[in-house]
Amino acid sequence: MKVTVVGAGNVGATCADVLAYREIANEVVLVDIKEGFAEGKALDIWQKAPINLYDTRTTGVTNDYSKTANSDVVVITSGLPRKPGMTRDDLISTNAGIVRSVTENVIKYSPEAIIIVVSNPLDVMTYAAHLTSKLPRTKVMGMAGILDTARYRAFLAEELNVSPKDIQAVLMGGHGDTMVPLPRYTTVGGIPVTELIAEDKLNAIIERTKNGGGELVKLMGTSAWYAPGSAAAQMVEAIVRDQKRVFPVCIKLEGEYGINGTYLGVPVVLGKNGIEKVIELQLNDEEMELLKASEKAVREVMDVLDNMPVNA
Ligand code: NAI
Ligand code: 2OP
Repeated sequence: MKVTVVGAGNVGATCADVLAYREIANEVVLVDIKEGFAEGKALDIWQKAPINLYDTRTTGVTNDYSKTANSDVVVITSGLPRKPGMTRDDLISTNAGIVRSVTENVIKYSPEAIIIVVSNPLDVMTYAAHLTSKLPRTKVMGMAGILDTARYRAFLAEELNVSPKDIQAVLMGGHGDTMVPLPRYTTVGGIPVTELIAEDKLNAIIERTKNGGGELVKLMGTSAWYAPGSAAAQMVEAIVRDQKRVFPVCIKLEGEYGINGTYLGVPVVLGKNGIEKVIELQLNDEEMELLKASEKAVREVMDVLDNMPVNA
């Protein structure tokens, strides 16, 4: 299997590294626009192979998409972080331009590829890639739900002093502070979490999860990469190994949860055909209200993109 990762920065390089050392693909191609950057990162990962004992071939290229031809999966991490003085709309416009041009190049050489978008704002960049690719919605998806859920699971494991492996959970909605954690669907080794933790502590963990990305930006001055890169690699693995894993993934909703046309994180089955099924949970009124609020927030940013001159 061949996987391309576009953007050899923090998230892209981490994703490529996980794909290589876990031998998720035979071949990983890193692409970046910065001269020599992807080549250097790929060479470094390749030179780690004799130490960590893997044989995934990693190569890097500067903006040469011919080398990505016939990729089975492409992960798009290229994009700018928000800089001082930049408005949210500037960021959307810049990153949408990057995601669109990258998607065009990707599709030109790998028309059958499944695309995983990581660039922010996530739900709307998934929208941009989907529009450009003209692929079915099941083949263009966004990574955020696995990351947000992992943060929630990690905080719970810490609070309960148990292994993170035993926390099962799902978060839905957009990648931002309107994300929708679902305590009713959270278990610890099969035990409902609400039987193990006080309500105020659980609520504090939910709030911390919603601000999980911001907490790391505050600490490091830039956004996270280990967990995001690993989360994207986990999606690639589910696809290339046809694992039928159940993950929250961003997809264009077409009637599910009563929502039409908005890109939101929902639980899906992920396998060799991409998103093979959207799972519709029986949300209660309160949960549905939260999901609708999250949809509204994502829809507003989608509207910003729709109203940009490039779309006129
Ligand atoms: P970074 O700045 O370390 O890396 C981005 C890379 O993209 C840079 O190396 C840059 O040269 C490259 N790039 C820019 N334009 C390009 C183009 N046209 N073609 C190819 N490469 C191009 O940033 P980092 O930390 O890796 O984050 C990447 C993106 O992922 C950001 O938009 C960030 O906000 C987002 N992110 C999303 C998460 C999620 O949960 N969905 C989690 C963490 C980050
Ligand atoms: C994160 O959640 C900022 O989307 C990035 O870490």
